[in-house]
Amino acid sequence: MPVTFTKNALLLSLLLALGQAQAASEPAPSALAIRSGIPHPAVIAHRGASFDAPESTAAAYTLARDLGADYLELDLQRSKDGVLFALHDNTLQRTTDVARKFPERKDSPANAFTMAELKTLDAGTWFNTAYPDRARPSYAGLNILTLDEIIDIAQGNPQHQPGLYIETKEPKQFPGIEHDLKAKLQERGWLIPAGSAVAKSEPAVGQGPGKVVLQTFEKSSLELLQKEMPQVPKILLLWVGEGNIEPVSKVTFAESGEKDKAAYYAKQAPKDKAEFQRWVDYAKAQGAIGTGPSAALTQGGDQSYADLVHPWMNRYTHDQGLLVHVYTIDDAVDYQKVMEAGVDGIFTNRASELLKFYKRPAAVSVDQVLKNNGY
Ligand code: G3P
Ligand code: CA
Repeated sequence: MPVTFTKNALLLSLLLALGQAQAASEPAPSALAIRSGIPHPAVIAHRGASFDAPESTAAAYTLARDLGADYLELDLQRSKDGVLFALHDNTLQRTTDVARKFPERKDSPANAFTMAELKTLDAGTWFNTAYPDRARPSYAGLNILTLDEIIDIAQGNPQHQPGLYIETKEPKQFPGIEHDLKAKLQERGWLIPAGSAVAKSEPAVGQGPGKVVLQTFEKSSLELLQKEMPQVPKILLLWVGEGNIEPVSKVTFAESGEKDKAAYYAKQAPKDKAEFQRWVDYAKAQGAIGTGPSAALTQGGDQSYADLVHPWMNRYTHDQGLLVHVYTIDDAVDYQKVMEAGVDGIFTNRASELLKFYKRPAAVSVDQVLKNNGY
């Protein structure tokens, strides 16, 4: 019936207009980032400039800083004697000579070692072996770093002070680490008092309200971080799998018959649209300013996961007033793809390449910075 059609059409137009008005009521992502003191788009140096130097070491962090990265990313753990330090893996085998120095404890978690013990380990030689084309003799003997030392590095170049992008790694292993982190940031003057600084323009990241960003995959840690440091921007990390977004298929990698994990992960997706949206809604409800989703990489590799940056996903996240910082991307083809999909910043092992892509190239080469820093 024409009349009914007209009524329905009218109702539909009204609903659409209402939906658009609601979406439009959220600030543009760039404005949102600036309000939080976060550069847009953001260059997040994943474990430092870890393509060119051993991850989470002084070589990698000073390189990322001096190239001009916005943030030094780190995975936070706590030693047996209570010192906060940076390490990605749960154990020390992949990135240190623990098997030689502590053969009987080589499979123990890193947190079973005191800081003095951790400091005896060589966290650089593995890189020279794994990547001979990028090896440097000076990498041999590099140390695991404490959070204090990474703060020193972040503050160490008067020309450019990057912020810190800190992940509570496996936080259930470290009860109270959110409180310890707050205490350390406060002691070092890295906690900006609540409400004291709302950025009006593109922020100088190492000085403004976005100088620290906190990130976690764990809902319980996000809640504790929000309780301890409500004024500090937080990101809920997203991936598809146990403890995070429920997958559409429960088939394991072993059962899948896929040749490598990247191929397996590339076929993973959230159970349905609502499941993805629930996680974004949760992040917002807990006070996060954004999400940190995974991406499927063109070249595959061990940092290629489910594609959680489809344009509809980013649109939904933006419509909730949240930012999207995607991990971990190193190739221009993928930088282009995720930027077109609408992300607001990228975790990268190759800060130099991402800075070039964003037309903010470093004034000096990777090689020159490494040489300047004694590597
Ligand atoms: O922190 C997010 C990003 O670093 C990806 O996770 O496993 O490298 O810490 P991961
Ligand atoms: Ca991390």
